[in-house]
Amino acid sequence: MSLITEIPVLSELDVPRASTVRATGDIKVYLETYGCQMNVSDSEIIASVLKEGGYGLTGSLDEADVVLINTCAIRENAEQKVRRRLNEMRARKRRGRPDMKIGVLGCMAERLREKLLEQEKLVDLVVGPDAYRDLPRLLGESMDTGQAAVNVLLSREETYDDIVPIRYDSNGVSAFVSIMRGCDNMCSFCVVPFTRGRERSRSVSSILAECDALVAQGFKEVTVLGQNVNSYRFGQNGNTVDFAELVNRISLISDELRVRYSTSHPKDCSDELLHVHKERENVCNYIHLPVQHGNTAMLERMKRTYSREEYLDLVDRTRSIVPGIALSTDIIAGFCGETDEEHNDTLSLMRKVRYDQAYMFMYSERPGTYAERKFEDDVPDQVKRSRLTEIITLQSQISLENNQAEIGTEHTVLVEGRSKRRDDQLSGRSDNNKMVVFDRGTRGKGDYVRVRITDCTSATLIGEEIHG
Ligand code: 5AD
Ligand code: SF4
Repeated sequence: MSLITEIPVLSELDVPRASTVRATGDIKVYLETYGCQMNVSDSEIIASVLKEGGYGLTGSLDEADVVLINTCAIRENAEQKVRRRLNEMRARKRRGRPDMKIGVLGCMAERLREKLLEQEKLVDLVVGPDAYRDLPRLLGESMDTGQAAVNVLLSREETYDDIVPIRYDSNGVSAFVSIMRGCDNMCSFCVVPFTRGRERSRSVSSILAECDALVAQGFKEVTVLGQNVNSYRFGQNGNTVDFAELVNRISLISDELRVRYSTSHPKDCSDELLHVHKERENVCNYIHLPVQHGNTAMLERMKRTYSREEYLDLVDRTRSIVPGIALSTDIIAGFCGETDEEHNDTLSLMRKVRYDQAYMFMYSERPGTYAERKFEDDVPDQVKRSRLTEIITLQSQISLENNQAEIGTEHTVLVEGRSKRRDDQLSGRSDNNKMVVFDRGTRGKGDYVRVRITDCTSATLIGEEIHG
């Protein structure tokens, strides 16, 4: 197993999510999701489209007539995981389920297209991220004709804004709300602009209506999602709403609703947005601010459009406007041409910023990207691995020290459910996005609880409820 899969990557799913509720309908679909939060949100849209199309949803592979896998293409090992799963499904089909249809959805579908059908003969259905409305028709076609069906057209408009997601795997407390799709940034290492297409923003009214409905259903937290939420913009002729204004408007729906967002690009993080964090109590004091690297020349090769110094200035500005705000980041180890010195700049930037959390990856070359075409993937695997280990070790130490500094402080925790380890404890997140565990007492899911921190690990705060 590679290091990558051993580290906790909160932005991704370690364990794929499977459809859990049964929706009625004669033909049953089993839907499995890999990848980022955006994919989880997309699967909720897919579930809704399928239900409207008369299909049922099942959590049991044994009763599935159709297996759909919503995939991720961001790193090679993400694709390998899906390939292994597809092979399992094919074996299942051969072992007595000849009529079972297998479909690949999402980023891998977009990247590999007909290749999945023609060369590898792995699947019956290939559907890209902008073609989910077409799923019922494509499934019907494949069932009627026995032929494979494909739609990988990318759109400049599709935001699925009128589709009410079915939150089939929800804890009933916290929900994802997709606000934009695609990415125009073209970071040189990243395949997302090719798999998810051009950036487009969903209408303000449909976003607010969805958040309103979530509040009415008892949800207490929304995480608004996009590949690059900070460049959200909707409207025309001097009547546009930008991301800061959108977050502000969502936060005004209810003081009981916490607002988070993911993921942002440092180049677009505005002072207006930082002021919304400061002024709106229910906009969480936490920003995921992916730096990717700590060296300016490397950032240039990555086409990130900021230097180390500009990034550090942004961190200072953020902390001066919103004192105590928690920061997390994404870091890539071993990108093309990286020297020991450049790698050390990443470590020194981490020591300067002292992130609360980080998602850390080994560079994986992706076909079709600028880096693949222009640079050599020349850092040996072993070197990538040892640099990543150094980065992870440093981050664990910083996370632990930051958490130790929380001992004795008080936090408001939104309870998400029982603790995974102990049934008599609850777990939830603090405003600054730290996982907090404490004795259940009389509290339950969806409660806001004041907790004093008494102990910690590098990943979790341990506390006790403050009574009275
Ligand atoms: N190799 C390794 N990590 C990558 N990421 C994106 N593309 C690659 C790649 N080719 C990481 C970036 C991004 C996160 C979602 O995934 O850090 O922010
Ligand atoms: Fe990929 Fe860069 Fe867009 Fe993020 S901002 S999705 S890393 S191209």
